[in-house]
Amino acid sequence: MIQNGIEPILQSNSRIPVVTFNSTDEVETILQRLIYQGVNCIEITLRTDAAVASIKKCKSIAPPDFNVGVGTVISKEQVKICMDLQVDFMVSPGSSAFIVEEMQNSGIPYLPGVMTPTEIIAARGRGCNFLKLFPFNIAGGEKAIKSYSKVFPSVKFCPTGGVGKNNFQDLLDMDNVICVGGSWLVK
Ligand code: 3PG
Repeated sequence: MIQNGIEPILQSNSRIPVVTFNSTDEVETILQRLIYQGVNCIEITLRTDAAVASIKKCKSIAPPDFNVGVGTVISKEQVKICMDLQVDFMVSPGSSAFIVEEMQNSGIPYLPGVMTPTEIIAARGRGCNFLKLFPFNIAGGEKAIKSYSKVFPSVKFCPTGGVGKNNFQDLLDMDNVICVGGSWLVK
């Protein structure tokens, strides 16, 4: 199964909100706002001291069909944390061999990140065809995604970083974009 079954999660969640919690007090309000907007997933970044407790809280109060994912996964230890927390998916800004191997072995659906053609080739070589393009606005924007559709027809992207209300729909209309990610949904 490609990337431990990430495809249906990305397919059914065209907008992935990337959220950094500074306190667990923020979790309930954000969750309600997302559900109100018709968003049924969240990517909680592992960037703050409040991250692990926020993931736990989110999992305990979210509806059963809501996908609680974790982002900014950059180490073996963080993959272990995701396994302990039984999160629904993991996102990494990169796709180094070790992180892809750890994520693969975890059994949890995962989405690694790329920024260049060389990284896309390497990620494909590691069996990954669903890739976060990060930071999208620096990695070449829509023009890059258009070029990649010819060069890497089997790859579907999740552009993240510089995606917002003004460009997300245009991106979703592109054949090789499966979903988009960003913080605009909770701002
Ligand atoms: C991040 O790293 O915080 C995400 O990529 C979101 O980026 P954005 O704030 O540009 O949406």
